[in-house]
Amino acid sequence: MKKVISVVGARPNFMKVAPIYHSSNDAKFEHKIVHTGQHYDYNLSDSFFVDLELPKPDFFLGVGSGSHSVQTAKIMMEFEKVLEIEKPDLVIVVGDVNSTIACGLVTVKMGIKLAHIEAGLRSGDRSMPEEINRIATDSISDYYFITEQSALDNLIFSGISEEKIFFVGNTMIDSLVKGLPKAELSSVLEDYQLTRGEFILATLHRPSNVDNKQSLEDFYEVFKSVSKNIKIVFPIHPRTTNKLTEFGLLEKFKSLENLVMIPPAPYIDFLKLMKYSKLVMTDSGGIQEETTYLDVPCLTLRTTTERPITIEIGSNLLINPNKDNIIDALDNSLKNPKKRIQMPLLWDGQAAKRIVKIIENKILS
Ligand code: UD1
Repeated sequence: MKKVISVVGARPNFMKVAPIYHSSNDAKFEHKIVHTGQHYDYNLSDSFFVDLELPKPDFFLGVGSGSHSVQTAKIMMEFEKVLEIEKPDLVIVVGDVNSTIACGLVTVKMGIKLAHIEAGLRSGDRSMPEEINRIATDSISDYYFITEQSALDNLIFSGISEEKIFFVGNTMIDSLVKGLPKAELSSVLEDYQLTRGEFILATLHRPSNVDNKQSLEDFYEVFKSVSKNIKIVFPIHPRTTNKLTEFGLLEKFKSLENLVMIPPAPYIDFLKLMKYSKLVMTDSGGIQEETTYLDVPCLTLRTTTERPITIEIGSNLLINPNKDNIIDALDNSLKNPKKRIQMPLLWDGQAAKRIVKIIENKILS
């Protein structure tokens, strides 16, 4: 029997791999999961395995945090050992985190075929570590599974031949569709005394937004101003908590009465928070897509996006993240929420099934 290994490492990977894993239960290939351990906190990792009904990974590499080079190098060294033992026929990497490029590189160096899920996305901003990971992974992959038209255009432009590209839809949306009924049962709104449609959900973790003091001080002013009128729920990524602590700002944020600071939310709770928020403000990549599906207005606190479909037909708006801009945009958006005009093509909860069929019939046959 042929063997496929899927790699997960950081929070946004789990919901992209889970539907492929589930759809391959009856497949003609064996499917194993390797977790690099890039993320290791319960709330960023294990809780996702529970919510997404994933079994324990077949291999846990336990690499943990470090500089980009240290993290990438450690993942490569550990993943090479796995491939030496397992000798898979195909490795699947997803998204754009350090685990994606690290494992991709090891795979092709060992002469094993590499498939990239969510390939082809480009923000055009090379100062984002993820953009470098996307470009590098796409330049070495053998097969490209894509979520939107811009990815096809980008890959063709960079010289990838069309027969290696498969427009399958979005596996993150597969997980969302599957998770929504469970989200209805979550008590997260009651836990934090939130009323449906009467709060803003905020997330911030991009180095460009949280790694400098001035930027965090500006966000404090934004939260202070906006929370006078509406509650803000703020699940805080550990990177952001660390930076708020380092800059001595944590207590200042905590003192805002209408700002509900909570630990990173488990997947199912987060779906419920998104679905019932009045609007979302974020610098995440995936949340732009999830809010588009849910038709919840999203303000993306960045100057670029690698997911332009969410702007073209979705509820997403890019906001240059300076204090006055954000306050104005929030004000406008609360008064005139932007709604999507149609659903992106093939965001229908069936992407993983398409991927598994292609792996069986075109890649491993
Ligand atoms: C990573 C991804 C980013 C993704 C984000 C989602 C890269 C380059 N970045 O960023 O694309 O949007 O995950 O969360 O791969 N930390 C913990 N516990 C953990 C993990 C991290 O406390 O389980 C802290 C550590 O202080 C660490 C810092 O967060 O140094 C940053 O973690 P890292 O994995 O390097 O990057 P993220 O900011 O999480």
